[in-house]
Amino acid sequence: MKVAIGNDHAGVALKEEIAAFLRQEGYEVINCGTDTFDSVDYPDIAEKVAEEVLKQNIPGIIICGTGIGISIAANKIPGIRAALCNDLFTARMTRKHNNANILALGARVIGAGLAVEIVREFLNTDFEGGRHQARVEKISAIEKKYREKV
Ligand code: RB5
Repeated sequence: MKVAIGNDHAGVALKEEIAAFLRQEGYEVINCGTDTFDSVDYPDIAEKVAEEVLKQNIPGIIICGTGIGISIAANKIPGIRAALCNDLFTARMTRKHNNANILALGARVIGAGLAVEIVREFLNTDFEGGRHQARVEKISAIEKKYREKV
C-alpha cells in the first residue's frame, strides 16, 4: 500500500517521523516534499499530494503549521476530501462518514506521538458507505455545479 505525503517548511520534522512510522508498517511512501526548512508555499504541496492521491487512488497526508492552509488548498481540487484532524475520534469518523482521502495535520498544533496515532487510525478505518455514500456524492455534485459556473 502506498501513501503520498507532503508538507511545507513547518512540517519537515513531523513528516520525517510519520514517514519512518509508515515505512516500518510496510507502506511505500511517496514523498512530495519539502525536505528542507527553506520557506515554501503550502498550496504547491497540497496540489502535488492531491495529484498523487487522485492518479494512484491512494491515501494522502498533508502537513503545514496549523494544517489549515494546506487543507483549504487541497479541498479546492475536485475529488479531494481533505480532513484536518487533531484527535483520534475525528480521524476515525472522517474515514467512516466522509470517505476522506487526505489527512491534514498541524505540525505546530500536535506532537509527533499523537500525530502517528492519528495516521494509524486514519489508514486503518474504512468508509461505512450506506447513508454516507449519498452525502459524499452530494459533495461531488457541488464540485461539479460550481466548476461549470466558473
Ligand atoms: C507557514 O508559516 C504557515 O503559515 C503554514 O505552515 C500554515 O500554518 C498555514 O496554514
